[in-house]
Amino acid sequence: MADHIHPVFERMLTRSEREQRLGQRAKVLWFTGLSGSGKSTVAIAVEHALFEAGHFAQLLDGDNIRSGINNNLGFSLEDRRENVRRIAEVAKLYKESGVITLCSFISPTREIREMARQIIGPEDFLEVFVDTPLDVCESRDVKGLYAKARRGEIKGFTGIDSPYEAPEQPFLHLKTEDAAPEESAGQVITAVNSIIQLK
Ligand code: ADX
Repeated sequence: MADHIHPVFERMLTRSEREQRLGQRAKVLWFTGLSGSGKSTVAIAVEHALFEAGHFAQLLDGDNIRSGINNNLGFSLEDRRENVRRIAEVAKLYKESGVITLCSFISPTREIREMARQIIGPEDFLEVFVDTPLDVCESRDVKGLYAKARRGEIKGFTGIDSPYEAPEQPFLHLKTEDAAPEESAGQVITAVNSIIQLK
């Protein structure tokens, strides 16, 4: 850090004061999975369920972030890493303000997710693997992108000609193939419920 930068954290309100006000413990739920795996659908259902239960939550989502703060980034592994680095920094700010933060990004490699975990803080980073097989994502092809990738019109598409490395030990492993989004969301809520309660 440059010599002339002096963070003022010690004079600011603390995370714990904000958590007390909001009546919750802040965590970051990091949803990872292929394009079309249902990450965002499940994360949106979780966001609603948390809100209805009286919590304060905020979802950061791939397409929204990529059309705003990260609109200068593409899909090379280097740009994906920068995409995730900025998102992790933003998620950390939300977390510090007491918000339960949901992040929904492919975040394709273990190295990229490990970076996010280190930025956010391992104790606050809860990795949720939205495990939907490639052939299912491809047959859904909600955005028509798999067809384009197969035709060679999009290069470097995750799962086709760019890697996706499944998490080895996620906090939660959701198998979404035969589950309704609300069911998967319910699994997330059950898993985090005690963690986000103020003791
Ligand atoms: S990440 O790899 O950097 O984490 P992110 O989640 O932000 O990706 O964006 C993924 C979304 O961008 C996909 O759901 C899809 O709609 C779109 N997209 C466009 N090009 C690609 C590509 N080459 N690979 C994967 N997704 C792509």
